[in-house]
Amino acid sequence: MFLLYFMNEETLIKEAIKAREFAYAPYSSFKVGAALESVDGEIYHGCNIENSSYTPTVCAERTAVFKAVSEGKKRFTRIVVVTGDNKPSSPCGVCLQVLSEFVDDDFPVILTNTSGIVEQYKFTDLLGRPFRPEVSIGNRDN
Ligand code: THU
Repeated sequence: MFLLYFMNEETLIKEAIKAREFAYAPYSSFKVGAALESVDGEIYHGCNIENSSYTPTVCAERTAVFKAVSEGKKRFTRIVVVTGDNKPSSPCGVCLQVLSEFVDDDFPVILTNTSGIVEQYKFTDLLGRPFRPEVSIGNRDN
């Protein structure tokens, strides 16, 4: 599929770094930022938001996806995820499953860290066999 990028990768990375500044991570001290670009060129920022009860914590990637979808956007071109880890880290399985609802196999996932290491993967490099919406929709046991 031909995708038009509205900004260069460096700009999108800067947006993810900005998003990370708002991370609320008093329990893990592991701050994550995400910048999700929709096909119309909007950027949806996300950060992780932790909770004293731990399990309600939401990751940066899901924050970005939920912000976008709640504003009517369901088609995306790229996501950048930034952490402060020594090497860029992958979105967790839950976030990948949430993304799988809206992105194709070759959707670019750009992982970076605060030291400037940048790695690019396609979505299925990170989640090889997602549970896809068409399976859920097309196979009802009546
Ligand atoms: N976290 C994310 O924001 N994204 C991920 O994909 C992995 C983990 C957050 C959740 C928690 O606030 C902190 O990182 C440590 O797990």
